[in-house]
Amino acid sequence: MTLLDNLKLKVICEGKAKLYVPDLSYYGHYVGNSEPSHAPVFYNPRMIFDRDLSVLVVNRFRSFVSENLRICDAFSGTGVRGIRYGLEVDGVDLIWFNDWNPLAVSLIHKNILLNPIKPSVAVSCLDARRMFFMNSNFNSRFHVIDIDPFGSPSKFIQPAIASLKDGGLMCITATDVPVLFGKYPTTCLRRYGSIPIESSFSQEIAVRILLGYISRNVSTYDFSCTPLLCYSRAHYIRVFARFDFGVDLANESVSKLGYIAFCEKCLHRFVVNGILPPDIRECPNCNSKLHFSGPLWVGPLFDPDFITLLREDATIPDLTRFLDIVLDECRGPPTFYVLDEISKILKISSPRVDDVLDELKSMGFFASRTHFHVKGVRTDAPSKIIFDVVRSSSS
Ligand SMILES: C[S@@+](CC[C@H](N)C(=O)[O-])C[C@H]1O[C@@H](n2cnc3c(N)ncnc32)[C@H](O)[C@@H]1O
Ligand SMILES: [Zn+2]
Repeated sequence: MTLLDNLKLKVICEGKAKLYVPDLSYYGHYVGNSEPSHAPVFYNPRMIFDRDLSVLVVNRFRSFVSENLRICDAFSGTGVRGIRYGLEVDGVDLIWFNDWNPLAVSLIHKNILLNPIKPSVAVSCLDARRMFFMNSNFNSRFHVIDIDPFGSPSKFIQPAIASLKDGGLMCITATDVPVLFGKYPTTCLRRYGSIPIESSFSQEIAVRILLGYISRNVSTYDFSCTPLLCYSRAHYIRVFARFDFGVDLANESVSKLGYIAFCEKCLHRFVVNGILPPDIRECPNCNSKLHFSGPLWVGPLFDPDFITLLREDATIPDLTRFLDIVLDECRGPPTFYVLDEISKILKISSPRVDDVLDELKSMGFFASRTHFHVKGVRTDAPSKIIFDVVRSSSS
């Protein structure tokens, strides 16, 4: 009799991996709906996009590292991520799997046996924080750490940085998006030390709050944070960032913290670098009360050179479509406008995004789509101009 005997499993293929996963049709029936977190071991088929993207990112990151990688899948569930890294990334020495759920660990062992993984493997059943500190000796640190917990990753950042090599990559998911999107400001303050705002660009604010939190926390260990690719999709946000050791670098990345000011009335917004001056309280456009979110990351969310390489490597249509948009927006300014919101204020029909982009570009402004919102426009044009362009582009 093993721990797994009572689990209802089925075999699936994902990427190059073959996996036993909980049969959600059974657990769906059993608990009344098919939420993956109701199964005894977690596997969410809706996260395949993210795992495909993560494999792409880790593969490209590998090309910048001069030695074989040690990769840590700290919240393994079925082991799907670690197994895919083991099968789909070249030049890997070790995959370390970890989950504090003993049932998950039994399934990880079973799934490892099902796949021809070349690198060495290690499997632990520990609180991830303990596992990170166990691997904080210089030689046991990881080049890549994947942090994919339930809800907030905030309490894992400091332990994780202790086990990351200089120049290492962290791939960090947060699923507590209602908190980061501004629905529960007190919880956001408690978990991330930051005030959110509810707005049509909350997805981007959420990513910036998470990045700001990460950057502040790793800077206490003299690490800098360089975002390579950050994105939001469905029920989660995800950050891929590189971390380099050095006081000057850490100081520089802390200088990318600040606030975003936002006027709900005219949608004007602007970045405040560093500490919030006490005298800015009114919108310079319409004198309405300003709202502030922060402290948060006001630096770039993307490394354009890295994104270009990812786009060249990508073959899966969902990824190429996504990366085309990210490539378009990656050199743009912080925040974006949502055309439906402006049209609603103007009481007109919402124009086509492409028409608005063409018009803004013809006026000499930066203008792109954004992956954060289908009707989003990232631009450096002032809000008054955007309102004019939306008005003239509406049919
Ligand atoms: C969202 S699931 C991971 C899914 C998996 N990475 C995937 O892509 O399918 C989160 C996993 O983390 C485990 N977990 C949650 N908190 C943990 C902790 N503090 N230490 C170790 N594992 C933890 C849970 O048992 C669960 O299996
Ligand atoms: Zn205003």
